[in-house]
Amino acid sequence: MTFATLINTATPESATLTVLGIESSCDDTAASVVRHAPPAAPKIVSSVVWGQTELHAGFGGVVPEIAARAHAEKLDLAVEGALAQAGVTLADLDAVAVTAGPGLIGGVLSGVMLARGLAAATGLPLLGVNHLAGHALTPRLTDEIPFPYLMLLVSGGHCQFLLVKAADSFTRLGGTIDDAPGEAFDKVAKLLALPQPGGPSVEAAAQGGDSARFALPRPLLDRPGCDMSFSGLKTAVLRTRDALVAEHGGLRRQDRADLCASFQAAVADLLAGKARRALALYMDLNPAQPTLAVAGGVAANLTLRGVLQKAAHDAGAQFLAPPLALCTDNAAMIAWAGIEQIRAGKIEAQDFVARPRWPLDTKAKPLLGSGKKGAKA
Ligand code: KG4
Ligand code: ZN
Repeated sequence: MTFATLINTATPESATLTVLGIESSCDDTAASVVRHAPPAAPKIVSSVVWGQTELHAGFGGVVPEIAARAHAEKLDLAVEGALAQAGVTLADLDAVAVTAGPGLIGGVLSGVMLARGLAAATGLPLLGVNHLAGHALTPRLTDEIPFPYLMLLVSGGHCQFLLVKAADSFTRLGGTIDDAPGEAFDKVAKLLALPQPGGPSVEAAAQGGDSARFALPRPLLDRPGCDMSFSGLKTAVLRTRDALVAEHGGLRRQDRADLCASFQAAVADLLAGKARRALALYMDLNPAQPTLAVAGGVAANLTLRGVLQKAAHDAGAQFLAPPLALCTDNAAMIAWAGIEQIRAGKIEAQDFVARPRWPLDTKAKPLLGSGKKGAKA
């Protein structure tokens, strides 16, 4: 069944769909082809992800102008690469799906302009996808789990608990009011002169450390609700570091390890504590196959994964962490979110604009703060 027929079909569930996804909202230039031929599982036929870490390395964060220029230079090559890897041409596609926000607007525009050009030249339908929906729908691409499920998005730019009820229905149960956890890991690494990105280096340094040596705060943990805060924790690490330096004239290896372990334990307590609350709200819905899924680079952290897994099991839910390459930014999730949109009959989405901010849950109150990689929600 072609997409044109699909538009007039009341039940588009069974059509075979091949969609090109394009992602450029932050510092990864990505393109991917995903095919779904029910009842077979969806297949990522190709996925190209080109990071820009080295371009921004000297600036202590992503520089929006540099990111936008790099996307504009490389996006068409990424698309060519994804089509070649998949062994398809534009004629084999049913639609083009592109991240239309939220994110750094220059990068988002680069992707949207390329996608619009492709759609205009080929006559293919164009779908504007919310980047966060891409992350949030990934467990359905990887594991075909049913709605509703609970999603914790934890990366350098995002931190929120989402109740995913349908491809276009998300309820935010809580989120960070300041830094994202990945951002906190990166800042702590910087404070302790550890390499970037901070997450893996803090995790490695924490391995030989005593997590009970420094009593760091657990902001908002004693407050009701699922909102989180990480910036006070980072400040507490700074004060502890300064006290150690004043005492010993520098940071000893063991001090650094103990401080990393103490910081990681605090993040673990915060995420696990709030996850338990979010799980309680979610389990009240009596989901058929209760699941807590994670996405985002921070989900790579084994200590954090361990406590989240325990929280899920204690609540009677399964814990799902998609492969890391699909937890971090990629275009397969955008292609998949496009397929979900088509299946849900949301094909009028062609008339979209690029948006720096685009909350998934439009009814939730805006959260404060905006991560180094752009707006959180
Ligand atoms: O999802 P991601 O690749 O990019 C965006 O933020 O969009 O996440 C990157 C973040 C960085 O802040 C990085 O320090 C953090 O994820 N991260 C980790 C670990 N690996 C990456 N944080 C904690 N532990 C890790 N093992
Ligand atoms: Zn992301």
